[in-house]
Amino acid sequence: MKSDNNTLFGFIDDYDNKIDWKKDSIINKCKFIEVLSIIEELDEKNSIKQEIQKILEIIKEPRKDNFGILNISLNGDTLKVRKELLIEDLTQIFEAQTLERAKYYISRLKKSLTEVKTSKINDINLNRWKEYDDIITDSLWILDKRDSSGAHNAGYWGNFIPQIPNQFLRRYTKQGEWVLDPFLGSGTTLIECKRLGRNGVGVELQSEVVEIANKNISAEENIYNVRTEIINADSTELNLKLELEKLNIKSVQFLILHPPYWDIIKFSENKRDLSNARSVQEFLNLFGKVVDNACEVLDNGRYFAVVIGDKYSQGEWIPLAFFTMNEILKRGYVLKSTIIKNFEETKGKMNQKELWRYRALVGGFYIFKHEYIFLFKKVKK
Ligand SMILES: C[S@@+](CC[C@H](N)C(=O)[O-])C[C@H]1O[C@@H](n2cnc3c(N)ncnc32)[C@H](O)[C@@H]1O
Repeated sequence: MKSDNNTLFGFIDDYDNKIDWKKDSIINKCKFIEVLSIIEELDEKNSIKQEIQKILEIIKEPRKDNFGILNISLNGDTLKVRKELLIEDLTQIFEAQTLERAKYYISRLKKSLTEVKTSKINDINLNRWKEYDDIITDSLWILDKRDSSGAHNAGYWGNFIPQIPNQFLRRYTKQGEWVLDPFLGSGTTLIECKRLGRNGVGVELQSEVVEIANKNISAEENIYNVRTEIINADSTELNLKLELEKLNIKSVQFLILHPPYWDIIKFSENKRDLSNARSVQEFLNLFGKVVDNACEVLDNGRYFAVVIGDKYSQGEWIPLAFFTMNEILKRGYVLKSTIIKNFEETKGKMNQKELWRYRALVGGFYIFKHEYIFLFKKVKK
């Protein structure tokens, strides 16, 4: 998909619309393109080099801007670009071996500043893909610090770090689309939805937790004017299609499932709570029902993620994560990635580090330091 982009900060995810003056250059788009077009017309490589050298100096030292290509006061048609990448592009033009090559690089730079190319499932501008260096594309996620900005807080025992929904929403949804979280907990996913301009609907079994989620979510500013809805219900039994219809939501474009890791944390006394399943098999059956319900309202061709860890009990490692993965594979969904994510000690284990190390040495096992995220795609076969 291609379109002209005339918005302020058009090329970087809106979530990232803060300006870091050391990292970013704010250019006057019209002026910059005009200057590049003039340089593109030059018919000597050395003249091109000379002019590009002047631009490079301006980018590095904005006070030298006698072309007016920078727009420090943010007036007019302004564009925020990552300074080091712009320098890289300009240097490539400067170092081009032939006139044709230099012109090709100029034309490519102009295109990347004026055209937006996105896929069907996100708003990432592929013409400036290098700027999204905080979007993870590897399967090993080492996230050392929890994002505690805005309404996010670590208050709910068993919540996930906001970076998880943040990564997925930016990669697998577009602004204005709908995200469903059938194990909402304290509302992390919906807070992220508000921050990124996605609509979100969550289901949570416990009414007390719904209250916590409501409080957390409303503490986040709604700058994109999106909708966030919470349903207080049992995700294993809920007719989501009907519930969404009541809310005037046709379907969703991404699912994120963060179920209890069976009984590792007991979330309530409620029998319908997955953390109260009496056996692994019962846990998996209940989980499977949630997958069926949630996937029914997911658009075909779209993605969903499951965040889950394993369990250690009575001298045995129980590969809960792989069991749940298998539950989904049985249903014919396509596994797109298995991600290993680190985690630090849970609150419960934090003060017992030494004790756990001793237990591990005695018991011949390893202490959990990771959990899994499975990414699936719904594809009609
Ligand atoms: C691991 S927590 C999710 C935490 C969430 N990602 C967050 O950041 O706060 C799992 C949540 O699922 C809820 N839950 C358990 N069984 C459920 C069911 N059958 N239907 C809906 N929610 C359920 C629990 O009450 C708990 O809040």
